[in-house]
Amino acid sequence: MQRDWDQRARENARHFVDTSRTDWTDETFFASGELAIAEEILTDTGNIYQGMDPAQMRVLEIGCGAGRLTRALASVFGEVHAVDVSGEMVARARTALQDRPNVTFYQNNGCDLTVVPPLVFDFAYSSHVFQHIPSHEVIETYVREVHRLLRPGALFKFQVQGYCEERPRDTWYGVAFTQEQATEMAQRCGFEHRYSFGAGDQYFTLWFFKPRA
Ligand SMILES: C[S@@+](CC[C@H](N)C(=O)[O-])C[C@H]1O[C@@H](n2cnc3c(N)ncnc32)[C@H](O)[C@@H]1O
Repeated sequence: MQRDWDQRARENARHFVDTSRTDWTDETFFASGELAIAEEILTDTGNIYQGMDPAQMRVLEIGCGAGRLTRALASVFGEVHAVDVSGEMVARARTALQDRPNVTFYQNNGCDLTVVPPLVFDFAYSSHVFQHIPSHEVIETYVREVHRLLRPGALFKFQVQGYCEERPRDTWYGVAFTQEQATEMAQRCGFEHRYSFGAGDQYFTLWFFKPRA
């Protein structure tokens, strides 16, 4: 995973982060992140903020890439910790977000969050990442790791591949989840799978809440 994503980053990082363009400028790239966060976070504040002031919230992002969503997250939340398997992606994100002192980037090993200090997080988010991971076990390890780091009651909102037709299992196509597989994974990892959207589609979004008790 690291080798493939480092190579994609060197070739055209922003294109592989969002393949809708090959010629992203700073302006268009980060505007696309603002739009995504407006749609995914700002329309869902009841589940995400849970009455907290977002400026007081500590947030974890898995698979930050070149910082497209990270920049927008850093405008909303007080503290953002962003992880990615690719050192090349992390280097680009660090450079692009030098003006955001509330963001900390980490290159991780591609399957767990041991690189992140044992802080307590109020929200965790991942989009356009697990759809590329070619192993259910690795994704489940991430879900367990997020459970370890979230405060009770907090939400892990993330997107997986939901399109279940036969395809190559590689670091581009990843593995898919059915609704049932997603719920079983939540149960095994100690989460409540409260909502989902897009089962059967590429953008299958899951709302996993860490129980309060
Ligand atoms: C398509 S990009 C999306 C980046 C970002 N989430 C966004 O939407 O702008 C996918 C990112 O996931 C990272 N990634 C892929 N597999 C990973 C893994 N196993 N652990 C952590 N990051 C991973 C890649 O390095 C890449 O930066």
